[in-house]
Amino acid sequence: MQASTLTALKELTLACARSAGELSMKRMKEPFTVEYKTSASDLVTAVDKEVEKHVIDMILKRFPDHGILGEESTFAKDYRQYDTLWVIDPIDGTTNFVHQQINFAVSIAVYHKGEGLVGAVYDPSRDELFYAVKGEGAFLNDRPLHLDRVVSLEEAILCTSVFWNKRAEQMGIDLIVKKLAGKVRGMRLLGSAALEMSYVAAGRLDGYVSLSLNAWDFGAGRIIVEEAGGRVTNMMGEPLPYNEKSSVMACNPTFYEELQHYLDLSEATDTEA
Ligand code: IPD
Ligand code: CA
Ligand code: CA
Ligand code: CA
Repeated sequence: MQASTLTALKELTLACARSAGELSMKRMKEPFTVEYKTSASDLVTAVDKEVEKHVIDMILKRFPDHGILGEESTFAKDYRQYDTLWVIDPIDGTTNFVHQQINFAVSIAVYHKGEGLVGAVYDPSRDELFYAVKGEGAFLNDRPLHLDRVVSLEEAILCTSVFWNKRAEQMGIDLIVKKLAGKVRGMRLLGSAALEMSYVAAGRLDGYVSLSLNAWDFGAGRIIVEEAGGRVTNMMGEPLPYNEKSSVMACNPTFYEELQHYLDLSEATDTEA
């Protein structure tokens, strides 16, 4: 990939993230429809769909031959046929968008033949843009992010995502919370995986674990954490996929082995995966 192409991808990713974030903030102040997807704990709003469409339009105007994998499926073609794939979550943390009106973000990543090139997570309510370019580091607004602090598991603040209702039980989610609660300094649940992973990169949290996320939840966060010097794998220690669901561990590298050994969740599976 030429340096000029990478720069163009970065510029468009950041422009899309900011523009999508501004649009969601504007729409949040107006009435919007909210629907259930699979249950009362799985919401989608008209804003999620509009923002995704807006981002796709911006991308295809500049790169008509790129593919798009977005949560709200507003890209009409089969994303599998493209070398360059944009992985988009227009609003990560829709429940927060509806209820709290903070702690939601747009997440946009660009992958080429499976390799993560650019990732951006924009939190419009705080005007915080986390982003990374492969080989060029990670940033919060213009500040470089480096995970160079030594942290033990006992000193760590960890974050996790849980599924509510019956899926929580199906997935043995209590394993994570029960196991970690007695071991770490603190646990947090913010409700936006993309933001939680970005906070790991920024050192605000030390680690993030989830038994099951979709590719658009972790596509950008994974690049940002890795470029900040963190370690990101699935629960089995394997590399994350770029276009399908997976469990996720993203953390400060100093306690990665200890965390994986301590969790030992090899038996816990997402029965709906
Ligand atoms: C959700 C958030 C949440 C995670 C869920 C995701 P959405 O994304 O990332 O933190 O626990 O698994 O589905 O639906 O708000 O984009
Ligand atoms: Ca959703
Ligand atoms: Ca999401
Ligand atoms: Ca979403």
